[in-house]
Amino acid sequence: EKGGYEHFMLKEIFEQPKSVHDTMRGRLLVEEGIIKMAGIFDHLERFNNAGRIIIIACGTSWHAGLIGEYLIEEFARVNVEVEYASEFRYRNPIITEKDVVIAISQSGETADTMAALKLAKEKGAFIYGICNVVDSSIARITDAGSYTHAGPEIGVASTKAFTAQLTVLSLIALKLGKHNGALSNSEFMSLITELDLLPKKIEEALQSTHDITKEIAKDFVETQNFLYLGRGYNFPSALEGALKLKEISYIHAEGYPAAEMKHGPIALIDENMPIVIIAPKKGHYDKLVSNVQEIKARKGKVIAVVNKGDQQVSAMADYVIEIPETSECFSPIIAAIPLQLLAYYIAVYRGANVDQPRNLAKSVTVE
Ligand code: F6R
Repeated sequence: EKGGYEHFMLKEIFEQPKSVHDTMRGRLLVEEGIIKMAGIFDHLERFNNAGRIIIIACGTSWHAGLIGEYLIEEFARVNVEVEYASEFRYRNPIITEKDVVIAISQSGETADTMAALKLAKEKGAFIYGICNVVDSSIARITDAGSYTHAGPEIGVASTKAFTAQLTVLSLIALKLGKHNGALSNSEFMSLITELDLLPKKIEEALQSTHDITKEIAKDFVETQNFLYLGRGYNFPSALEGALKLKEISYIHAEGYPAAEMKHGPIALIDENMPIVIIAPKKGHYDKLVSNVQEIKARKGKVIAVVNKGDQQVSAMADYVIEIPETSECFSPIIAAIPLQLLAYYIAVYRGANVDQPRNLAKSVTVE
């Protein structure tokens, strides 16, 4: 059932060209120039009149939510807030009947996310679900929703569910922007054309990063700390890369927006600190070049995730991982691949139980 792979996690990482494709199937119709999503279309008025959208989630799903904020604000020009479900529910949040609350949950059973949604519903907000498990509790209580079609995710560490969540959030952002006029038709067309290429680019990323991440991992088996840095859309990618490493390898890792480095974490950098930096060509590249210079001046070990043919960052980095280029807004979907593989191989070399890390459960049904 692991399809020849040593672990479910590796199988699920390699399934991503298909799971992202499945999540877009029947929705993204490039030739007709439309995105079909009944959950959004049937409630367009709710979305168009929403003063803001609040996204609630936990863990990896919360990281997807952060990227969703960038997507929806950029393309639909609607104000978005992203909250940890556990914090939101216990702080007497201000929720009005005009709000749209989107819950993101792979399992659809996460207790905090469920409780936060119930609270929002009581206050009259419109509640929307992005779940992977069909007919799960969250999917059932929401007013509407869009499933991710990632298929069953068995590995405790979320991989293909994350990229499927990003796919759904991209579709929602573009659809909302098209209907409310925030996106011109030509912008919409060029974005959906690029979105449609993602399964192929994920496949390319698997090919171009598999061997190299496996090699790099060997050098970090004994490492105790890692920093992950990114900017813009890839700041949440850094958080997610760090979470993957923590949960399966038990190595302490932190993700930061690259510009925050000088406000504290830079003090940690010496020759023993590996820093994974996500630096695709599109998206604050020049600023990331300076960040890498600052790291190298302090002898930090740079593992750079860059686009094919990259020069500036690659020239300074200790390790270079090349991924195909895409629009900045979709780059977290591609960048996720080597980050998952790196965490996976480090954990495997450390002899950890990758599919069932200690202390973790696949669905957290208690708070
Ligand atoms: C990380 C991970 C957890 C979950 C979190 C939310 O790899 O699996 O952080 O993302 O427990 O779970 P769902 O999405 O099922 O609500």
